[in-house]
Amino acid sequence: MLSNLNSGHSQQAKFNLVQVKGTWIRQPEQSQLAEGKLSDAEISQNKSENGLLWTVVSPIIFSYRVIQCRNILDPGNDTLLWGHLGDEELKGTLSNSKPLRRFVVIDETVNHLYGSQVAQYFKARKTVCKILPLPTTEENKGLELVTRILEQVHEFGIDRRSEPIIAIGGGVCLDVVGLAASLYRRRTPYIRVPTTLLSYVDASVGAKTGVNFAGGKNKLGSYVPPVATFLDRSFFQTLPPRQISNGMAEMLKMALMKHRGLFELLEAEGRKLLHTKLQSCESNNDVSEHEDCATASTRIAIETMLEELAPNLWEDDLDRLVDFGHLISPELEMCVLPALLHGEAVNIDMAFMVYVAHQRGLLTADEKERIVQCMLGLELPVWHQDCTLALVQKSLRERVKHSGGSVRMPLPTGLGQAEIFHDMIEDNILHQAYQKWTDELSDSGNK
Ligand SMILES: NC(=O)c1ccc[n+]([C@@H]2O[C@H](COP(=O)([O-])OP(=O)(O)OC[C@H]3O[C@@H](n4cnc5c(N)ncnc54)[C@H](O)[C@@H]3O)[C@@H](O)[C@H]2O)c1
Ligand SMILES: [Zn+2]
Repeated sequence: MLSNLNSGHSQQAKFNLVQVKGTWIRQPEQSQLAEGKLSDAEISQNKSENGLLWTVVSPIIFSYRVIQCRNILDPGNDTLLWGHLGDEELKGTLSNSKPLRRFVVIDETVNHLYGSQVAQYFKARKTVCKILPLPTTEENKGLELVTRILEQVHEFGIDRRSEPIIAIGGGVCLDVVGLAASLYRRRTPYIRVPTTLLSYVDASVGAKTGVNFAGGKNKLGSYVPPVATFLDRSFFQTLPPRQISNGMAEMLKMALMKHRGLFELLEAEGRKLLHTKLQSCESNNDVSEHEDCATASTRIAIETMLEELAPNLWEDDLDRLVDFGHLISPELEMCVLPALLHGEAVNIDMAFMVYVAHQRGLLTADEKERIVQCMLGLELPVWHQDCTLALVQKSLRERVKHSGGSVRMPLPTGLGQAEIFHDMIEDNILHQAYQKWTDELSDSGNK
């Protein structure tokens, strides 16, 4: 019945929308437009003997700022308070004499380490501030935390036009606060301040929010980007080394997929970056000086990530290079929980896929070896006993199910370049790659 509305003897018309004196009016597409504000939206209409069909096309634009800065908690630094605003908006806001207010959600561990600085910052900036520390761990990443945040936000009372909610913590904190903000009054602006390397290069730059639900990771969530993300590497000083390696895996992913320069940087300086926790040396503080490796590697990781995310913010296009390392790792991560961190599972997946790429003739033996050595230099696991061939095959089958019947597999085709393959890996290639991977790397942890 419905399909008849689109076909047969229907009359079709398309309309633009123009706002004249506060009223939106439809105007046939071909006609001379009335003077007024023209919307990007369109309404088309199909009329047939079966009824009437309207199709609304309403483009929605998201714009958000990602700012790499230093000393974000220094009261002399405006970023935390005003970094989300452009110059014009800031002028308007500063001319307003309303007292400043901010609602801040902070990871409990981060609160122990930096909470007093956060409180000091807002005190010095004469801002009324509610700081809510929460145990934002993976086990707690559920709707309950979202509800707790919403209740407190409601009690504090925020002006959703001018008082963004601020999240300070790792990926769990940023994801949970993002979801709460996307629900409160249907969409309240929020700001992300990542304090782990993984969330700095990954969770903080995109639009995804979420919590775990019904035993599934991030099963509930939304695609609502923050108004701004403020990136300050000094938080990494208090991270355990394993958390640094964890984030390095996502940086290596971007390097392998699309940036040979970043790969070479991680290959040559990976160990040093790890041991200095990506801090710049003091002598390099002068911004006019040559960019140091910590600054360059994080900048490139962010830029390459933004290039892949911005045109596909809602992940409508299933051909995503950023999915490299994320085909087998979700199964593996859930199966060994909590033995492997996310980036570690991703790295094991990438190491296996490097063997697949080699077996397919996409990578030379030398390139394969360099990648594995780079991974080891970053102190990342490259093999895992629970990553069995059966698990690999199951993950690939699952993948086909969830991506419209064809596998979409990003594979490296050189150092810093990749392609997305739509054909299933042949069984014999998969077996040979798996065998070689196990023969060569199964004792890598003991080296
Ligand atoms: N939204 C996205 O696009 C996206 C992308 C990647 C990952 N994620 C999500 O992010 C989560 C993983 O993020 P994560 O690795 O940051 O984990 P996390 O948030 O659990 O943080 C890891 C640990 O580090 C501690 N911590 C945080 N900052 C610290 C600091 N500066 N010093 C000392 N300790 C600190 C935390 O308390 C926690 O114990 C997962 O839930 C994942 O689903 C989301
Ligand atoms: Zn990831």
